[in-house]
Amino acid sequence: MIKVMSIFGTRPEAIKMCPLVKELESRNEIKSVVCVTGQHREMLDSVLEIFDVKPDYDLSIMKPKQTLFDVTTEILNSIKEVLEKEQPDIVLVHGDTSTTFVSALACFYLQIPVGHVEAGLRTYNIYSPFPEEFNRQAVSIISSLNFAPTQQAYDNLIAEGRNPEHIVITGNTAIDALKTTVKEDYQSDITEWAADSRLILITAHRRENIGEPMRQMFKAIRRIIDQHPDTKAVYPIHMNPLVREIADEILGNDDRIRIIEPLDVVDFHNLMNKSYLIITDSGGIQEEAPSLGKPVLVMRDTTERPEGVAAGTLKLVGVNEDVIYSSFYNLLNDVDLYNSMAQAQNPYGDGTASIQIVDSIINLLRKK
Ligand code: UD1
Ligand code: UDP
Repeated sequence: MIKVMSIFGTRPEAIKMCPLVKELESRNEIKSVVCVTGQHREMLDSVLEIFDVKPDYDLSIMKPKQTLFDVTTEILNSIKEVLEKEQPDIVLVHGDTSTTFVSALACFYLQIPVGHVEAGLRTYNIYSPFPEEFNRQAVSIISSLNFAPTQQAYDNLIAEGRNPEHIVITGNTAIDALKTTVKEDYQSDITEWAADSRLILITAHRRENIGEPMRQMFKAIRRIIDQHPDTKAVYPIHMNPLVREIADEILGNDDRIRIIEPLDVVDFHNLMNKSYLIITDSGGIQEEAPSLGKPVLVMRDTTERPEGVAAGTLKLVGVNEDVIYSSFYNLLNDVDLYNSMAQAQNPYGDGTASIQIVDSIINLLRKK
């Protein structure tokens, strides 16, 4: 029996780890243990409930307006005991959050092997996104098994000198999740409210954008929506109070912009599928939108997901108000441009990433 402990703590990690946890639970060769850090609370619990995943451990570390120091020290202090008690054969972490980095670091200190899901994404700019680029590079130094979603991610790891025998290209488990959530006949109060309009879906939360960049992003969006009476916008807002203050100030009090609480993943995926376009600084949405054929304006200067840009679905528009405004304006008013971006493409695999990851774990750990 191989004991596999999955550790995650934020909404996007949960969305992409829960399909994998379900797959681990279904195999006779594996004993699956789940530890959540609780870096997110409500946004994490919502995903656990939808996928019916019940953690064995919950470190419950979240506090309002937490700093990177808070998250790092809280997790590092409390996870030691769990790892020492369980002594897993391998720990799986996902992506690039503080939960990911600190859990991998704790495993390193205890010399427990780490498998990195969604390995090899890079911008090679340590401050963008911040602190995620550091986190994922640091985890690659520690991890002994790497599950790369794409050939590009694999190539990055090889260029950094990682052993090819320890890297498997699997696709992204985001697609596994998406396959279970999207229904063409989906309707909600938002889709009814926007039935007469082009629906713009907004999300924004990145730590490095909080402050002036986020003000510029929201000002551009407000100008565009106000100038295009055939559009309505919905912003399922992140729970970070710092984001909420800026959003209320700039996007509040507008009949055609609705700021709503975060949606559960089923509603969010379906709303993506019903939207005209998406404007975001999110990472995960850049993976999901191409397979739904939804154009995405990415309000960032860099992306670790060049596959969607190459496929034509994503356009990087930075964080300057005027640049965002003109790109957004063009996409709304140039039908040919819109159609060229709205081609369904799927650079992230066929929705079997979880199966491939679990197969690889069994094959590689049995050899030892
Ligand atoms: C974290 C990750 C980021 C990821 C994002 C996904 C780090 C450093 N950042 O950033 O990589 O893109 O999650 O959303 O790991 N809050 C709640 N309830 C929740 C979640 C958050 O109230 O369920 C509030 C709290 O006040 C918390 C704040 O949001 O202090 C920020 O949460 P945190 O996890 O530190 O940062 P994110 O911006 O969410
Ligand atoms: N998402 C969700 N509800 C929302 C907004 C986003 O379920 O209200 C999902 C989205 O489909 C994607 C993930 O959350 O799978 C992205 O999370 P986020 O943007 O917070 O983090 P990032 O991907 O940037 O790390």
